Amino acid sequence: MTGRSSYLIVANRLPVDRTIEPDGTAAWRRSPGGLVTAIAPVMQRRHGAWAGWHGAADEVLEPFEQGGMNLIPVPLSAREVELYYEGFSNATLWPLYHDVVAPPVFDRKMWDSYREVNQRFAEAAAEAADEGAVVWVQDYQLQLVPAMLRKLRPDLRIGFFLHIPFPPTELFWRLPWRRELVEGLLGADLVGFQLPGGASNFRRLCRRLLGLPYKGNEIFLDDRIVTTQAFPISVDFAQLDSLVRDPNIVARAKEIRMELGDPEHVLLGVDRLDYTKGIGQRLEGFGELLNDGRLRPGEAVFVQIATPSRERVDEYRRLRDDIELQVGRINGEHAQLGYQPVWYFHQSYDHEELAALYLAADVMVVTPLRDGMNLVAKEYVSCHHDLHGALVLSEFAGAADELRQAYLVNPYDVEDVKRQMLAAMRATPHELARRMRTMRRRVATYDVDRWASEFLTALESPASEPSTRHSA
Ligand code: ADP
Ligand code: G6P
Repeated sequence: MTGRSSYLIVANRLPVDRTIEPDGTAAWRRSPGGLVTAIAPVMQRRHGAWAGWHGAADEVLEPFEQGGMNLIPVPLSAREVELYYEGFSNATLWPLYHDVVAPPVFDRKMWDSYREVNQRFAEAAAEAADEGAVVWVQDYQLQLVPAMLRKLRPDLRIGFFLHIPFPPTELFWRLPWRRELVEGLLGADLVGFQLPGGASNFRRLCRRLLGLPYKGNEIFLDDRIVTTQAFPISVDFAQLDSLVRDPNIVARAKEIRMELGDPEHVLLGVDRLDYTKGIGQRLEGFGELLNDGRLRPGEAVFVQIATPSRERVDEYRRLRDDIELQVGRINGEHAQLGYQPVWYFHQSYDHEELAALYLAADVMVVTPLRDGMNLVAKEYVSCHHDLHGALVLSEFAGAADELRQAYLVNPYDVEDVKRQMLAAMRATPHELARRMRTMRRRVATYDVDRWASEFLTALESPASEPSTRHSA
Protein backbone atom coordinates (compact mmCIF):
# COMPACT_ATOMS: atom_id res chain seq x y z
CA MET A 1 0.00 0.00 0.00
CA THR A 2 1.22 3.47 -0.75
CA GLY A 3 1.07 5.67 2.37
CA ARG A 4 -1.69 6.03 4.91
CA SER A 5 -5.29 6.98 4.20
CA SER A 6 -7.23 10.03 5.31
CA TYR A 7 -10.46 8.12 4.83
CA LEU A 8 -10.81 4.47 5.83
CA ILE A 9 -13.61 1.90 5.96
CA VAL A 10 -13.24 -0.98 8.42
CA ALA A 11 -15.67 -3.87 7.84
CA ASN A 12 -15.63 -7.60 8.50
CA ARG A 13 -15.67 -8.19 4.76
CA LEU A 14 -13.73 -6.65 1.91
CA PRO A 15 -15.89 -5.85 -1.14
CA VAL A 16 -14.37 -8.86 -2.87
CA ASP A 17 -14.16 -12.44 -1.73
CA ARG A 18 -11.30 -14.81 -2.48
CA THR A 19 -12.43 -18.05 -4.06
CA ILE A 20 -10.63 -21.06 -5.42
CA GLU A 21 -11.71 -22.13 -8.91
CA PRO A 22 -12.15 -25.84 -9.77
CA ASP A 23 -8.71 -25.81 -11.44
CA GLY A 24 -7.12 -24.63 -8.16
CA THR A 25 -6.42 -21.03 -9.18
CA ALA A 26 -7.48 -18.19 -6.87
CA ALA A 27 -10.06 -15.70 -8.11
CA TRP A 28 -12.02 -12.73 -6.70
CA ARG A 29 -15.78 -12.23 -6.75
CA ARG A 30 -18.12 -9.64 -5.23
CA SER A 31 -18.85 -10.36 -1.56
CA PRO A 32 -22.47 -11.12 -0.66
CA GLY A 33 -24.87 -8.86 1.21
CA GLY A 34 -26.22 -5.35 1.52
CA LEU A 35 -23.22 -3.81 3.30
CA VAL A 36 -20.93 -4.34 0.32
CA THR A 37 -23.65 -3.36 -2.20
CA ALA A 38 -24.08 -0.03 -0.45
CA ILE A 39 -20.54 0.92 0.45
CA ALA A 40 -18.58 -0.26 -2.61
CA PRO A 41 -19.93 2.42 -5.01
CA VAL A 42 -19.50 5.15 -2.39
CA MET A 43 -15.88 4.17 -1.77
CA GLN A 44 -15.06 3.80 -5.45
CA ARG A 45 -16.08 7.41 -5.96
CA ARG A 46 -14.14 8.64 -2.92
CA HIS A 47 -10.99 6.57 -3.52
CA GLY A 48 -10.63 5.58 0.10
CA ALA A 49 -9.08 2.56 1.76
CA TRP A 50 -10.98 -0.46 3.06
CA ALA A 51 -9.70 -2.89 5.70
CA GLY A 52 -11.54 -6.22 5.94
CA TRP A 53 -11.39 -9.97 5.77
CA HIS A 54 -11.01 -11.45 2.27
CA GLY A 55 -13.22 -14.49 2.91
CA ALA A 56 -10.59 -17.26 3.05
CA ALA A 57 -9.09 -18.79 6.22
CA ASP A 58 -5.41 -19.03 7.15
CA GLU A 59 -4.21 -16.82 4.32
CA VAL A 60 -2.18 -13.64 4.81
CA LEU A 61 -2.35 -11.27 1.85
CA GLU A 62 -0.62 -7.98 1.11
CA PRO A 63 -2.70 -4.81 0.55
CA PHE A 64 -3.72 -4.33 -3.09
CA GLU A 65 -5.61 -1.92 -5.34
CA GLN A 66 -8.93 -2.78 -6.94
CA GLY A 67 -11.70 -0.71 -8.51
CA GLY A 68 -10.13 2.56 -7.36
CA MET A 69 -9.92 1.36 -3.75
CA ASN A 70 -7.00 0.46 -1.58
CA LEU A 71 -7.89 -2.91 -0.04
CA ILE A 72 -6.19 -4.03 3.17
CA PRO A 73 -6.82 -7.73 3.91
CA VAL A 74 -7.17 -8.65 7.59
CA PRO A 75 -6.44 -12.38 8.09
CA LEU A 76 -8.60 -14.83 10.06
CA SER A 77 -7.53 -18.32 11.06
CA ALA A 78 -9.87 -21.27 10.47
CA ARG A 79 -10.60 -21.31 14.21
CA GLU A 80 -11.45 -17.60 14.18
CA VAL A 81 -13.77 -18.11 11.24
CA GLU A 82 -15.54 -20.70 13.37
CA LEU A 83 -15.59 -18.81 16.68
CA TYR A 84 -15.63 -15.11 15.77
CA TYR A 85 -17.44 -15.12 12.39
CA GLU A 86 -19.75 -18.15 12.37
CA GLY A 87 -19.92 -18.15 16.17
CA PHE A 88 -20.21 -14.86 18.04
CA SER A 89 -21.10 -12.73 15.00
CA ASN A 90 -23.59 -15.06 13.33
CA ALA A 91 -24.81 -17.49 15.98
CA THR A 92 -24.96 -14.98 18.87
CA LEU A 93 -25.33 -11.37 17.69
CA TRP A 94 -27.22 -11.93 14.43
CA PRO A 95 -30.20 -13.77 15.97
CA LEU A 96 -30.14 -11.65 19.15
CA TYR A 97 -30.36 -8.40 17.18
CA HIS A 98 -33.05 -9.82 14.87
CA ASP A 99 -35.73 -10.28 17.52
CA VAL A 100 -34.33 -13.72 18.51
CA VAL A 101 -36.11 -15.30 15.54
CA ALA A 102 -33.60 -18.12 16.17
CA PRO A 103 -32.14 -18.86 19.61
CA PRO A 104 -28.78 -17.11 20.15
CA VAL A 105 -25.80 -19.16 21.34
CA PHE A 106 -23.88 -17.78 24.34
CA ASP A 107 -20.39 -19.25 24.44
CA ARG A 108 -17.31 -17.84 26.18
CA LYS A 109 -14.84 -19.16 23.64
CA MET A 110 -16.73 -17.39 20.89
CA TRP A 111 -16.67 -14.16 22.88
CA ASP A 112 -12.89 -14.42 23.49
CA SER A 113 -12.32 -14.87 19.79
CA TYR A 114 -14.59 -11.91 18.96
CA ARG A 115 -12.52 -9.71 21.28
CA GLU A 116 -9.22 -10.88 19.80
CA VAL A 117 -10.32 -10.40 16.22
CA ASN A 118 -11.77 -6.96 16.98
CA GLN A 119 -8.39 -6.01 18.44
CA ARG A 120 -6.69 -7.13 15.21
CA PHE A 121 -9.05 -5.00 13.10
CA ALA A 122 -8.41 -2.00 15.40
CA GLU A 123 -4.65 -2.46 14.98
CA ALA A 124 -4.96 -2.74 11.21
CA ALA A 125 -7.00 0.47 11.14
CA ALA A 126 -4.56 2.27 13.48
CA GLU A 127 -1.74 1.39 11.14
CA ALA A 128 -3.54 2.37 7.92
CA ALA A 129 -5.05 5.69 9.03
CA ASP A 130 -3.30 8.99 8.47
CA GLU A 131 -3.01 11.63 11.23
CA GLY A 132 -6.53 12.95 12.02
CA ALA A 133 -8.14 10.60 9.47
CA VAL A 134 -11.82 9.69 9.33
CA VAL A 135 -12.34 6.00 10.10
CA TRP A 136 -15.76 4.50 9.49
CA VAL A 137 -16.32 1.15 11.21
CA GLN A 138 -19.17 -1.05 9.92
CA ASP A 139 -21.61 -3.43 11.50
CA TYR A 140 -22.17 -5.90 14.32
CA GLN A 141 -19.03 -7.98 13.73
CA LEU A 142 -16.84 -5.06 14.87
CA GLN A 143 -18.61 -3.39 17.77
CA LEU A 144 -15.52 -3.35 20.00
CA VAL A 145 -13.34 -1.68 17.39
CA PRO A 146 -14.32 1.98 18.07
CA ALA A 147 -13.07 1.93 21.70
CA MET A 148 -10.02 -0.19 20.87
CA LEU A 149 -9.09 2.15 18.04
CA ARG A 150 -9.59 5.30 20.11
CA LYS A 151 -7.17 3.91 22.66
CA LEU A 152 -4.54 3.33 19.97
CA ARG A 153 -5.22 6.50 17.99
CA PRO A 154 -7.00 9.28 19.91
CA ASP A 155 -6.35 11.69 17.01
CA LEU A 156 -8.86 9.94 14.69
CA ARG A 157 -12.46 10.86 13.97
CA ILE A 158 -14.30 7.54 14.43
CA GLY A 159 -17.75 6.71 13.06
CA PHE A 160 -19.70 3.48 13.44
CA PHE A 161 -22.73 2.31 11.46
CA LEU A 162 -24.89 -0.67 12.40
CA HIS A 163 -26.50 -2.23 9.32
CA ILE A 164 -28.84 -4.49 11.30
CA PRO A 165 -31.51 -3.51 13.86
CA PHE A 166 -30.42 -2.50 17.35
CA PRO A 167 -32.67 -4.52 19.67
CA PRO A 168 -34.81 -3.32 22.56
CA THR A 169 -33.11 -3.27 25.99
CA GLU A 170 -35.08 -6.33 27.15
CA LEU A 171 -33.44 -8.50 24.48
CA PHE A 172 -29.97 -6.97 24.59
CA TRP A 173 -29.90 -7.45 28.36
CA ARG A 174 -29.52 -11.22 27.93
CA LEU A 175 -26.02 -10.84 26.54
CA PRO A 176 -23.42 -11.82 29.15
CA TRP A 177 -20.99 -9.28 27.61
CA ARG A 178 -23.50 -6.46 27.24
CA ARG A 179 -21.37 -3.90 29.05
CA GLU A 180 -18.25 -4.51 26.98
CA LEU A 181 -20.18 -4.23 23.73
CA VAL A 182 -21.81 -0.95 24.65
CA GLU A 183 -18.51 0.49 25.87
CA GLY A 184 -16.94 -0.63 22.58
CA LEU A 185 -19.51 1.32 20.54
CA LEU A 186 -19.13 4.39 22.74
CA GLY A 187 -15.54 4.69 21.51
CA ALA A 188 -17.03 6.26 18.34
CA ASP A 189 -17.82 9.96 17.92
CA LEU A 190 -20.93 9.09 15.93
CA VAL A 191 -22.95 5.86 16.13
CA GLY A 192 -25.37 5.49 13.21
CA PHE A 193 -28.45 3.24 13.02
CA GLN A 194 -30.89 2.40 10.23
CA LEU A 195 -33.97 3.72 12.07
CA PRO A 196 -34.67 6.23 14.86
CA GLY A 197 -36.01 3.33 16.98
CA GLY A 198 -32.57 1.65 16.98
CA ALA A 199 -30.87 4.89 18.04
CA SER A 200 -33.30 5.41 20.89
CA ASN A 201 -32.96 1.75 22.02
CA PHE A 202 -29.22 2.37 22.24
CA ARG A 203 -29.51 5.63 24.21
CA ARG A 204 -31.91 4.06 26.70
CA LEU A 205 -29.59 1.11 27.11
CA CYS A 206 -26.62 3.40 27.83
CA ARG A 207 -28.60 5.11 30.56
CA ARG A 208 -29.85 1.88 32.14
CA LEU A 209 -26.60 -0.07 31.84
CA LEU A 210 -23.98 2.62 32.41
CA GLY A 211 -25.99 5.42 34.01
CA LEU A 212 -25.04 7.79 31.18
CA PRO A 213 -27.24 10.85 30.71
CA TYR A 214 -28.42 11.85 27.24
CA LYS A 215 -30.26 14.72 25.65
CA GLY A 216 -31.69 14.59 22.15
CA ASN A 217 -29.19 12.62 20.06
CA GLU A 218 -26.24 13.12 22.38
CA ILE A 219 -24.93 10.79 25.07
CA PHE A 220 -22.72 12.47 27.66
CA LEU A 221 -19.56 10.66 28.75
CA ASP A 222 -17.17 12.16 31.35
CA ASP A 223 -14.86 13.71 28.81
CA ARG A 224 -16.71 13.70 25.49
CA ILE A 225 -20.03 13.39 23.72
CA VAL A 226 -21.20 10.54 21.49
CA THR A 227 -23.81 11.41 18.87
CA THR A 228 -26.38 8.77 17.91
CA GLN A 229 -28.57 9.14 14.84
CA ALA A 230 -30.56 7.27 12.22
CA PHE A 231 -29.27 7.19 8.62
CA PRO A 232 -31.43 4.85 6.51
CA ILE A 233 -29.09 3.17 4.03
CA SER A 234 -29.95 3.06 0.33
CA VAL A 235 -28.89 1.92 -3.13
CA ASP A 236 -27.17 3.41 -6.17
CA PHE A 237 -30.45 4.47 -7.81
CA ALA A 238 -28.90 6.17 -10.87
CA GLN A 239 -26.72 3.17 -11.69
CA LEU A 240 -29.66 0.71 -11.56
CA ASP A 241 -31.99 3.09 -13.36
CA SER A 242 -29.58 3.38 -16.27
CA LEU A 243 -28.71 -0.34 -16.26
CA VAL A 244 -32.33 -1.40 -16.84
CA ARG A 245 -32.60 0.98 -19.83
CA ASP A 246 -29.83 -0.97 -21.59
CA PRO A 247 -31.43 -2.83 -24.54
CA ASN A 248 -29.53 -6.01 -23.60
CA ILE A 249 -31.11 -6.02 -20.15
CA VAL A 250 -34.56 -5.31 -21.59
CA ALA A 251 -34.13 -8.21 -24.03
CA ARG A 252 -32.90 -10.50 -21.26
CA ALA A 253 -35.92 -9.62 -19.10
CA LYS A 254 -38.26 -10.63 -21.97
CA GLU A 255 -36.30 -13.81 -22.48
CA ILE A 256 -36.57 -14.69 -18.76
CA ARG A 257 -40.36 -14.38 -18.95
CA MET A 258 -40.46 -16.65 -21.97
CA GLU A 259 -38.22 -19.18 -20.27
CA LEU A 260 -40.62 -19.22 -17.33
CA GLY A 261 -43.44 -20.21 -19.68
CA ASP A 262 -44.79 -16.65 -20.20
CA PRO A 263 -47.18 -16.71 -17.24
CA GLU A 264 -49.52 -13.80 -16.44
CA HIS A 265 -47.69 -13.01 -13.20
CA VAL A 266 -44.04 -13.45 -12.27
CA LEU A 267 -43.42 -13.17 -8.53
CA LEU A 268 -39.83 -12.84 -7.36
CA GLY A 269 -37.87 -13.22 -4.12
CA VAL A 270 -34.14 -12.39 -3.91
CA ASP A 271 -32.36 -12.96 -0.62
CA ARG A 272 -29.37 -14.44 1.09
CA LEU A 273 -30.62 -17.79 2.32
CA ASP A 274 -31.20 -16.49 5.85
CA TYR A 275 -33.86 -17.39 8.42
CA THR A 276 -34.60 -13.71 9.04
CA LYS A 277 -35.82 -13.24 5.46
CA GLY A 278 -39.19 -15.00 5.77
CA ILE A 279 -38.67 -17.11 2.63
CA GLY A 280 -40.70 -19.98 4.07
CA GLN A 281 -43.58 -17.63 4.95
CA ARG A 282 -43.88 -16.28 1.40
CA LEU A 283 -43.69 -19.76 -0.15
CA GLU A 284 -46.36 -20.95 2.26
CA GLY A 285 -48.60 -18.09 1.16
CA PHE A 286 -48.01 -18.83 -2.52
CA GLY A 287 -48.57 -22.57 -2.03
CA GLU A 288 -51.87 -21.93 -0.24
CA LEU A 289 -53.09 -19.64 -3.02
CA LEU A 290 -52.60 -22.58 -5.39
CA ASN A 291 -54.22 -25.03 -2.95
CA ASP A 292 -57.20 -22.72 -2.40
CA GLY A 293 -57.68 -22.36 -6.16
CA ARG A 294 -57.38 -18.59 -5.85
CA LEU A 295 -54.55 -18.85 -8.38
CA ARG A 296 -55.35 -20.79 -11.52
CA PRO A 297 -52.81 -23.42 -12.59
CA GLY A 298 -50.35 -21.73 -14.93
CA GLU A 299 -51.41 -18.22 -13.93
CA ALA A 300 -48.41 -17.32 -11.77
CA VAL A 301 -44.87 -18.50 -11.11
CA PHE A 302 -42.71 -17.76 -8.11
CA VAL A 303 -38.97 -17.33 -8.72
CA GLN A 304 -36.91 -17.56 -5.55
CA ILE A 305 -33.23 -16.66 -5.78
CA ALA A 306 -31.47 -17.66 -2.56
CA THR A 307 -27.80 -16.74 -2.31
CA PRO A 308 -25.75 -19.27 -0.35
CA SER A 309 -24.87 -17.75 3.03
CA ARG A 310 -23.10 -18.81 6.25
CA GLU A 311 -23.48 -22.41 5.20
CA ARG A 312 -21.63 -23.99 8.11
CA VAL A 313 -23.88 -22.42 10.78
CA ASP A 314 -26.47 -24.99 11.96
CA GLU A 315 -29.55 -22.76 11.64
CA TYR A 316 -28.64 -21.97 8.04
CA ARG A 317 -28.14 -25.60 7.20
CA ARG A 318 -31.55 -26.49 8.63
CA LEU A 319 -33.17 -23.59 6.81
CA ARG A 320 -31.82 -24.79 3.48
CA ASP A 321 -33.30 -28.24 4.02
CA ASP A 322 -36.66 -26.76 5.07
CA ILE A 323 -36.91 -24.43 2.07
CA GLU A 324 -35.88 -27.08 -0.41
CA LEU A 325 -38.45 -29.48 1.04
CA GLN A 326 -41.13 -26.82 0.79
CA VAL A 327 -40.28 -25.99 -2.83
CA GLY A 328 -40.36 -29.70 -3.69
CA ARG A 329 -43.79 -30.10 -2.08
CA ILE A 330 -45.38 -27.16 -3.88
CA ASN A 331 -43.97 -28.24 -7.23
CA GLY A 332 -44.89 -31.86 -6.58
CA GLU A 333 -48.52 -30.94 -5.91
CA HIS A 334 -49.06 -28.25 -8.52
CA ALA A 335 -46.68 -28.75 -11.45
CA GLN A 336 -48.06 -29.81 -14.79
CA LEU A 337 -46.26 -30.63 -18.00
CA GLY A 338 -45.10 -27.20 -19.19
CA TYR A 339 -45.86 -25.50 -15.85
CA GLN A 340 -43.59 -25.30 -12.81
CA PRO A 341 -44.99 -23.04 -10.06
CA VAL A 342 -41.77 -22.40 -8.08
CA TRP A 343 -38.33 -21.86 -9.61
CA TYR A 344 -35.69 -22.04 -6.91
CA PHE A 345 -32.04 -21.10 -7.45
CA HIS A 346 -29.41 -21.52 -4.74
CA GLN A 347 -26.91 -19.36 -6.65
CA SER A 348 -25.40 -15.90 -6.93
CA TYR A 349 -25.88 -13.69 -9.97
CA ASP A 350 -24.09 -10.70 -11.45
CA HIS A 351 -25.62 -7.20 -11.46
CA GLU A 352 -26.92 -7.50 -15.01
CA GLU A 353 -28.80 -10.76 -14.53
CA LEU A 354 -30.27 -9.54 -11.25
CA ALA A 355 -31.42 -6.30 -12.90
CA ALA A 356 -33.07 -8.31 -15.71
CA LEU A 357 -34.85 -10.46 -13.11
CA TYR A 358 -36.13 -7.37 -11.28
CA LEU A 359 -37.34 -5.94 -14.56
CA ALA A 360 -39.05 -9.21 -15.51
CA ALA A 361 -40.93 -9.50 -12.20
CA ASP A 362 -44.48 -8.20 -11.79
CA VAL A 363 -44.46 -8.64 -8.04
CA MET A 364 -41.41 -8.45 -5.79
CA VAL A 365 -42.03 -10.31 -2.54
CA VAL A 366 -39.89 -9.16 0.41
CA THR A 367 -41.14 -10.66 3.66
CA PRO A 368 -38.42 -10.61 6.36
CA LEU A 369 -39.38 -11.37 9.94
CA ARG A 370 -36.90 -8.62 10.85
CA ASP A 371 -34.45 -6.72 8.64
CA GLY A 372 -32.31 -3.63 9.28
CA MET A 373 -33.26 -2.08 5.93
CA ASN A 374 -33.51 -4.55 2.97
CA LEU A 375 -31.83 -3.20 -0.13
CA VAL A 376 -33.53 -5.69 -2.44
CA ALA A 377 -36.80 -3.75 -1.98
CA LYS A 378 -35.07 -0.49 -2.98
CA GLU A 379 -33.27 -2.15 -5.90
CA TYR A 380 -36.57 -3.40 -7.31
CA VAL A 381 -38.08 0.08 -7.13
CA SER A 382 -34.97 1.57 -8.79
CA CYS A 383 -35.39 -0.85 -11.73
CA HIS A 384 -39.00 0.12 -12.58
CA HIS A 385 -38.95 3.38 -14.52
CA ASP A 386 -41.74 1.69 -16.52
CA LEU A 387 -43.90 2.24 -13.37
CA HIS A 388 -45.04 -1.34 -13.72
CA GLY A 389 -44.48 -3.76 -10.86
CA ALA A 390 -45.66 -4.08 -7.27
CA LEU A 391 -43.67 -4.46 -4.09
CA VAL A 392 -45.01 -6.69 -1.31
CA LEU A 393 -43.01 -5.63 1.74
CA SER A 394 -42.84 -6.76 5.34
CA GLU A 395 -43.67 -4.23 8.02
CA PHE A 396 -40.61 -5.58 9.85
CA ALA A 397 -38.10 -4.41 7.23
CA GLY A 398 -36.49 -1.02 7.83
CA ALA A 399 -37.43 -0.13 4.23
CA ALA A 400 -41.13 -0.16 5.20
CA ASP A 401 -40.61 3.18 6.99
CA GLU A 402 -39.82 4.84 3.67
CA LEU A 403 -41.73 2.73 1.13
CA ARG A 404 -45.21 3.26 2.51
CA GLN A 405 -46.83 2.69 -0.91
CA ALA A 406 -45.72 -0.93 -0.97
CA TYR A 407 -48.26 -3.67 -0.26
CA LEU A 408 -47.29 -3.89 3.39
CA VAL A 409 -47.67 -7.25 5.14
CA ASN A 410 -47.22 -8.90 8.49
CA PRO A 411 -45.18 -11.99 7.49
CA TYR A 412 -46.38 -13.86 10.59
CA ASP A 413 -49.93 -13.63 9.22
CA VAL A 414 -50.13 -15.99 6.25
CA GLU A 415 -53.62 -14.75 5.30
CA ASP A 416 -52.26 -11.21 5.11
CA VAL A 417 -49.36 -12.35 2.92
CA LYS A 418 -51.81 -14.14 0.58
CA ARG A 419 -54.19 -11.17 0.47
CA GLN A 420 -51.47 -8.67 -0.39
CA MET A 421 -49.82 -10.90 -2.99
CA LEU A 422 -53.19 -11.28 -4.68
CA ALA A 423 -53.93 -7.55 -4.42
CA ALA A 424 -50.56 -6.85 -6.03
CA MET A 425 -51.32 -9.29 -8.88
CA ARG A 426 -54.82 -7.89 -9.46
CA ALA A 427 -53.97 -4.16 -9.25
CA THR A 428 -54.71 -1.92 -12.24
CA PRO A 429 -51.80 -0.37 -14.17
CA HIS A 430 -52.91 3.02 -12.88
CA GLU A 431 -52.75 1.90 -9.26
CA LEU A 432 -49.34 0.28 -9.77
CA ALA A 433 -47.97 3.43 -11.40
CA ARG A 434 -49.28 5.63 -8.59
CA ARG A 435 -47.52 3.57 -5.95
CA MET A 436 -44.32 3.02 -7.90
CA ARG A 437 -43.93 6.71 -8.78
CA THR A 438 -43.96 7.76 -5.12
CA MET A 439 -41.58 5.00 -4.05
CA ARG A 440 -39.15 5.86 -6.85
CA ARG A 441 -39.14 9.51 -5.87
CA ARG A 442 -38.11 8.51 -2.36
CA VAL A 443 -35.29 6.15 -3.40
CA ALA A 444 -34.01 8.55 -6.08
CA THR A 445 -33.77 11.33 -3.48
CA TYR A 446 -32.34 9.29 -0.61
CA ASP A 447 -29.82 7.26 -2.53
CA VAL A 448 -26.65 5.71 -1.17
CA ASP A 449 -24.52 8.79 -1.86
CA ARG A 450 -26.86 10.90 0.21
CA TRP A 451 -26.70 8.32 3.00
CA ALA A 452 -22.90 8.38 3.03
CA SER A 453 -22.58 12.12 2.76
CA GLU A 454 -25.11 12.74 5.55
CA PHE A 455 -23.25 10.32 7.80
CA LEU A 456 -19.83 11.80 7.01
CA THR A 457 -21.04 15.38 7.41
CA ALA A 458 -22.45 14.51 10.82
CA LEU A 459 -19.22 12.72 11.73
CA GLU A 460 -17.08 15.66 10.78
CA SER A 461 -19.19 18.29 12.53
CA PRO A 462 -18.39 18.62 16.24
CA ALA A 463 -20.98 17.65 18.86
CA SER A 464 -22.12 20.36 21.30
CA GLU A 465 -19.69 21.31 24.08
CA PRO A 466 -19.55 18.91 27.04
CA SER A 467 -20.51 21.91 29.24
CA THR A 468 -24.07 21.72 27.85
CA ARG A 469 -24.36 18.36 29.63
CA HIS A 470 -27.86 17.53 30.80
CA SER A 471 -29.69 14.62 32.25
CA ALA A 472 -32.63 13.44 30.15
P1 ADP B 1 -28.65 -8.54 3.38
O1 ADP B 1 -27.69 -7.41 3.52
O2 ADP B 1 -29.21 -9.02 4.67
O3 ADP B 1 -28.15 -9.65 2.55
P2 ADP B 1 -30.14 -6.74 1.61
O4 ADP B 1 -31.44 -6.95 0.92
O5 ADP B 1 -30.02 -5.43 2.31
O6 ADP B 1 -29.93 -7.97 2.60
O7 ADP B 1 -28.96 -6.83 0.56
C1 ADP B 1 -28.75 -7.95 -0.22
C2 ADP B 1 -27.86 -7.58 -1.40
O8 ADP B 1 -27.35 -8.77 -1.98
C3 ADP B 1 -28.60 -6.83 -2.47
O9 ADP B 1 -27.77 -5.85 -3.02
C4 ADP B 1 -28.91 -7.93 -3.51
O10 ADP B 1 -28.96 -7.44 -4.83
C5 ADP B 1 -27.72 -8.84 -3.35
N1 ADP B 1 -28.11 -10.23 -3.68
C6 ADP B 1 -29.05 -10.96 -3.05
N2 ADP B 1 -29.17 -12.17 -3.63
C7 ADP B 1 -28.27 -12.20 -4.63
C8 ADP B 1 -27.89 -13.18 -5.60
N3 ADP B 1 -28.46 -14.41 -5.65
N4 ADP B 1 -26.92 -12.87 -6.47
C9 ADP B 1 -26.33 -11.66 -6.42
N5 ADP B 1 -26.65 -10.71 -5.53
C10 ADP B 1 -27.59 -10.97 -4.65
C1 G6P C 1 -25.67 -8.41 6.10
C2 G6P C 1 -24.74 -7.87 7.17
C3 G6P C 1 -23.35 -7.63 6.58
C4 G6P C 1 -22.85 -8.90 5.92
C5 G6P C 1 -23.85 -9.42 4.89
C6 G6P C 1 -23.44 -10.72 4.26
O1 G6P C 1 -25.80 -7.43 5.13
O2 G6P C 1 -25.27 -6.67 7.71
O3 G6P C 1 -22.44 -7.23 7.59
O4 G6P C 1 -21.61 -8.68 5.29
O5 G6P C 1 -25.12 -9.59 5.52
O6 G6P C 1 -23.18 -11.68 5.24
P1 G6P C 1 -21.76 -12.39 5.37
O7 G6P C 1 -21.83 -13.13 6.67
O8 G6P C 1 -21.64 -13.25 4.17
O9 G6P C 1 -20.71 -11.29 5.38
